[in-house]
Amino acid sequence: MDFQKEYKKKLVTVDDILAKIKSNDIILPALVGCEPTAVLQRIHEIDNRVENVRIYATLEFNQFPFKDPNVDVKNIKTMSYFFGAGSRGLHPLKRATLLPCHLRNFCSFGLESKRPNIFMASVTPMDRFGYFTMSLSQVLERPFLEAADMVVLEVNDQMPRVQGDTMVHISEVDYIYEHSHDIVSIAAQKPGEKEKKIGKYIADFVEDGDTFQLGIGAIPNAVAESMMQKKDLGIHTEMFTEGMMELMQAGVVTNRKKTVHRGKTVATFALGSKKLYDFLHDNPAIAMLEGGYVNNPYVIAQNNNMISINTTLQVDLTGQCCSESIGNRQYSGIGGQTDTVLGALMSPNGRSVIALLSTTKDEKISKITPFLTEGAAVTLSRNDVDYIVTEYGVAKMRGMSIAERAENLINIAHPKFREELKASAEKLHIW
Ligand code: COA
Repeated sequence: MDFQKEYKKKLVTVDDILAKIKSNDIILPALVGCEPTAVLQRIHEIDNRVENVRIYATLEFNQFPFKDPNVDVKNIKTMSYFFGAGSRGLHPLKRATLLPCHLRNFCSFGLESKRPNIFMASVTPMDRFGYFTMSLSQVLERPFLEAADMVVLEVNDQMPRVQGDTMVHISEVDYIYEHSHDIVSIAAQKPGEKEKKIGKYIADFVEDGDTFQLGIGAIPNAVAESMMQKKDLGIHTEMFTEGMMELMQAGVVTNRKKTVHRGKTVATFALGSKKLYDFLHDNPAIAMLEGGYVNNPYVIAQNNNMISINTTLQVDLTGQCCSESIGNRQYSGIGGQTDTVLGALMSPNGRSVIALLSTTKDEKISKITPFLTEGAAVTLSRNDVDYIVTEYGVAKMRGMSIAERAENLINIAHPKFREELKASAEKLHIW
């Protein structure tokens, strides 16, 4: 096959792609930095020509006019496994809906009930063997690409080449357009004093030689900072972050003690700054693998000494965690929270930590409450919760009765809410 000839034959414009989208299509844009930005930037222009176009919007960090509540779009809606700012804004207008699902099942459940017929991704330029690299996310891309009727690639010469299950061959592609642009980036949230305290408590849980996973948010970044004195750590994670990059650069993460994928950091997507993307480019120590595999608890558990560290929005005195909604207002999604917790708990010497600030930033609301607010989603069941950490200490949940859980959690609540929590526990029979 003459790859260059194939490439030219498949090369089209953004207008050509927009013209091919029709009513009832389901579109799967690749996630985070792999979103096909040029088409999504203009897709609202076809709103008056189509009906019932649905776009998967998961881990969305780019903003586009079709997701702007102020832009009148009626016929293009989003469905999301994990709300970002875009879906959060569209939700009250009935232009976005949530697909509750563990990350490990995104592909299998999605393909069974809502198969996307169009797949689009932003990728690296083609190499001399006819391969593009779908660099920064493998959460669900490969199975959806294979199941789609039409595969469109946006070639972005600024995309890093990341190793793993990331290759797409020209023979699998229907259309290509070129669009050079900066990749969406987020600055690492700098940990404050409280986050640093949490980081220190968690560092006590981490032993040299452990393999760890860190979730999304400011607290996991503080945790990464606090692990700088450890040795021979390994990474098996859903999200690869700036903090993890720094641990690799400092030689703290060697992956030498891992019992599966020894020598490699395993992740399923990466999000950060340009520095992070440069670090990932051609880095043989990283394997970006499919989400259904990476987040499968049986796979996670093959790592001995696995520790999962995630955060939540609200925890009740029985240990139920809501990590995705504020009351009935959907904020994000479950992602891989339960996947990673279960995997860690199934691992020999595994541990799982949920770390959160005891209150919201203004200290007006306690995040530890007698029961979850009405409408709040139970992201992590109280049967699976292991340790909970705030800036006031560690509350052990494993093996604890409801009465012991309530006592342990009240002890790590903000002092100004403790009496109120004790009184509620009495009144509501939380024992
Ligand atoms: N009541 C009311 N508001 C609350 C609240 C509570 N109990 N807890 C948090 N909030 C508000 C915050 O004030 C903040 O509001 P702002 O945006 O106006 O500042 C907002 O909710 C987000 O809270 P924050 O603590 O800053 O969130 P975060 O960025 O650290 O993310 C999660 C935390 C839990 C939303 C995020 O980690 C998540 O979605 N987790 C689920 C998926 C997961 O854990 N996957 C694991 C593998 S990656």
